[in-house]
Amino acid sequence: MQIIKTITELRSSLRSQDNVAFVPTMGNLHAGHIQLVEVAKQHADYVVVSIFVNPLQFGPTEDLASYPRTLQADCEKLKAAGASIVFTPTVEEMYADFDGKNLNQTMTITPPPIANELCGATRPGHFSGVATVVMKLFNMVQPSVAIFGQKDFQQLFIIKHMVKQFNLPINIIGVDIVREPSGLAMSSRNGYLTEAQRTSASKLNSVLQSIVNSIKSGSKNYSELEQQAKSALNSQGWMTDYISIRSSESLLPALTTDQKLVVLGAANLGNTRLIDNLVFSI
Ligand code: PAJ
Repeated sequence: MQIIKTITELRSSLRSQDNVAFVPTMGNLHAGHIQLVEVAKQHADYVVVSIFVNPLQFGPTEDLASYPRTLQADCEKLKAAGASIVFTPTVEEMYADFDGKNLNQTMTITPPPIANELCGATRPGHFSGVATVVMKLFNMVQPSVAIFGQKDFQQLFIIKHMVKQFNLPINIIGVDIVREPSGLAMSSRNGYLTEAQRTSASKLNSVLQSIVNSIKSGSKNYSELEQQAKSALNSQGWMTDYISIRSSESLLPALTTDQKLVVLGAANLGNTRLIDNLVFSI
């Protein structure tokens, strides 16, 4: 497995490869990320994983500085998983004209209005930052397949949209959420949780599961279900950002006639923002 830091070196290593599977990450890898590598291996012999904590997708008060950086352990996990290349560029390498302070000179992708809802409503500019870095990484790696987790359902939706709109010849594959035995979706941010918070963290998954059960047994009052779930979390010390029942095809608020649904939630436990979702059909 090669560990590569520059775009020039990456390009020369990939020159003779015409079927590359790509897994973009921000590192601090857990079993969810490794599952993406496993799926990548099913699509290509050559697997590139990027590790880059992208400043452009963090808001000014978010956890960019404290985001866990564990490169050595990550590389060991990726070697064991059978990755071919780990691409781990610096901010200067990724963003031309970066002056050490801001990224004002950067050209960015403007995602569609859905990027301003759900996580985008509380994290303005987040999905523009994600789309921009993913487009740049796609241009560097030029994969035929790229693998993303369904845990970031809205992110996956926007990336699929971008690939379609910009006619990129890349097959985007979504992978099911990998969870702890408690039901908690694995996340690099789970490491911020205290022991006590970790025990209650699976509550986010269980309120989403209750909504799925209610809808499957005929409930149609979606706004009431969302409100109840929010109150259930808030009464147990969470600060809920949103609980939202949406069409899994358009990501717009679900109509009672929609059959393919996703229920998404984002909530803070202390200072830690957790997200989760469940995709289902009725
Ligand atoms: P990161 O949060 O590191 O996640 C990298 C990939 O792993 C994403 O596609 C995410 O959906 C997936 N993932 C995370 N937890 C998962 C889980 N429990 N089960 C399955 N997949 C999981 O998402 C990002 O980084 C960044 O926004 C990025 C796309 C790399 C752009 O900077």
